[in-house]
Amino acid sequence: ELGPYRHFMQKEIHEQPRALADTIDAVINAGSFDASLFGANAEAVLSGITGIKILACGTSYYAGSTAKYWIESIAGLPCDVEIASEYRYRQAFADPRHLVVTISQSGETLDTMEALKYAKSLGHTHTLSICNVQESAIPRASELVCYTRAGAEIGVASTKAFTTQLAALFQLTVVLGKLHGKVNAEQEVDYLEQLRQLPGSVQHALNLEPQIAAWAERFATKANALFLGRGLHYPIALEGALKLKEITYIHAEAYPAGELKHGPLALVDEAMPVVVIAPNDSLLEKVKSNMQEVRARGGELFVFADQDSNFSASEGVHVIRTPRNVGVLSPIVHTIPVQMLAYHAALARGTDVDKPRNLAKSVTVE
Ligand code: F6R
Repeated sequence: ELGPYRHFMQKEIHEQPRALADTIDAVINAGSFDASLFGANAEAVLSGITGIKILACGTSYYAGSTAKYWIESIAGLPCDVEIASEYRYRQAFADPRHLVVTISQSGETLDTMEALKYAKSLGHTHTLSICNVQESAIPRASELVCYTRAGAEIGVASTKAFTTQLAALFQLTVVLGKLHGKVNAEQEVDYLEQLRQLPGSVQHALNLEPQIAAWAERFATKANALFLGRGLHYPIALEGALKLKEITYIHAEAYPAGELKHGPLALVDEAMPVVVIAPNDSLLEKVKSNMQEVRARGGELFVFADQDSNFSASEGVHVIRTPRNVGVLSPIVHTIPVQMLAYHAALARGTDVDKPRNLAKSVTVE
């Protein structure tokens, strides 16, 4: 069942255009972002809420962290994101007008389930689950549900489940934006068009695999790596560092690039590869000056820049060009290269890609 692929992880990385197309299918077919995507009574619930609280673990938490940028800027609602295992053990402030969104591909993660129960015990009645497994525990315990359609994910390191979570969260954002008067008909058409082009842009990013595999050879010998991003791409830097840690056992950390000089710059020398996610957005110039700080300390830069970023390679600066800038959906497209970088570095190191040591696919214990 692996077909032409060597591992499930590689197969699942390549399934992303299809998984995304399936996840956005209902919106594309309807030609609009309709609240009914989230259940029959979703419109009433989603129009009445005044904020969002997202609870999740691991990769799903990074999907939520990306969604915070979307929800606050596009839907104009306050959004906070918290690691489920932290939330469940603190005396949290609960505003019952806020919607609790849990994100869990398995739907069985104990910490996320317990965080949901805890939120309810604090008075939250409005809850929404984004999940990849039909009728699993967390969606069953939630008022509203949106299933991603990634299909079964076998590799322990999450890939297609993550990008489809992002697609679902983007759809939620636009639905909320419409209901709260922040997204007008013209903008909706625009978002629809961007979503329609998403599977194709992801396919273009997949075509970069040979170039990324060549980079990965050099990563395989490193002991550490830094990942940098800003804004919407900061959570993708986090996801890239997590994938690298999980399957290559290389120590990797991610920072919002603006934080460099507040500490991590001290780590940078010739031995530290620095991966930068640098598409052409409003923060690009800032990212470029952060990159100069790295170069000045001898750090080797590996830059993912889109066609519009206007970057060229130079001494110590390697550049791979991702597809044309895709606007707010850019974090989804830029997830693909960091997944492939981790995958190929793991291949070069000969680790067990689909079953990394010490990890389980579904974490049903604390
Ligand atoms: C990392 C990974 C984990 C999961 C986390 C939550 O690649 O897969 O970090 O994201 O264990 O799992 P779910 O989404 O099933 O709640």
